[in-house]
Amino acid sequence: MTSWKRKHLLGLDELSKEEIELILETASSFKEVSFRDIKKVPALRGKTVVTLFFEPSTRTRISFELAAKRLSADTLNIAVQASSTTKGETLLDTAKNIEAMNVDAMVVRHSLSGAPFILAQGLQCSVINAGDGCREHPTQALLDMFTLKEKLGHIEGLKVALVGDILHSRVARSNIWGLTKLGAKVTVCGPATLMPRGIESMGVKINYDLKEVLRNSDAVIALRLQKERQQDKFLPSLREYSRLFGINQAKLQEATSHLIVMHPGPTNRGVELSAEVADGKQSVILDQVTNGVAVRMAVLYLVLGAKGE
Ligand code: CP
Repeated sequence: MTSWKRKHLLGLDELSKEEIELILETASSFKEVSFRDIKKVPALRGKTVVTLFFEPSTRTRISFELAAKRLSADTLNIAVQASSTTKGETLLDTAKNIEAMNVDAMVVRHSLSGAPFILAQGLQCSVINAGDGCREHPTQALLDMFTLKEKLGHIEGLKVALVGDILHSRVARSNIWGLTKLGAKVTVCGPATLMPRGIESMGVKINYDLKEVLRNSDAVIALRLQKERQQDKFLPSLREYSRLFGINQAKLQEATSHLIVMHPGPTNRGVELSAEVADGKQSVILDQVTNGVAVRMAVLYLVLGAKGE
């Protein structure tokens, strides 16, 4: 089996198939910890993990914090709005000052693509990317792959559709890197204005016909419309988007009965998914959130080198 050698997790583009599989296998062994009465193992006792989020987050930040706590690490969540970055301090200076208090890992979300790379080059501690601009959200894709494997038994040969705002989606990019490395067949579907030019070079197919995509998929990952990253007018209206690319019960009638519906969250109900689909029996959205803790436990455990516990 591959051994883990990386100090940082910056993206899935740089990981091998074997490294991705190692994270998923490690997550599998950690999943049951969250179902114990005492949800704790001593793997990272004495380590300090800081979450530094420059963009809003519910799932990722809480999930990393819970993952670190369940591994017995000390955790600290930096409220960026109340920190000295608002007085003009640079990202790297802020991070270096936090690191000077002897932290072992920094989990970073930032609106600038590449921000975690700047920190990884400038810091001694481990840096974990919790989402950078439109570039990557590696732990989201890892938890998506974990959920696909758990629900459908395998990833190789699986037909997975990513539907929505592909252009601005770091979740889409990380999933494309990860799923194609593990042998899945990935189709992207969404408005032409939100389709990156040359995306086929990442090993995916484009199909603008959602019903056809649903008929030919084992899983669909609906993506949030990233209004905060859309400076231009990419869509005539949300109603038009929802009519063509929103997934509702009527469109799901076209799909295979085993198709699972996923969404990284936060979901715009009535836009990407109707409420009945989001809450329906084919939806595994809350399973994704549950699995996020196990996947982030695995990532923290591996990058902090806590082997042999
Ligand atoms: N999926 C995801 O990144 O959700 P949050 O923005 O709530 O962390």
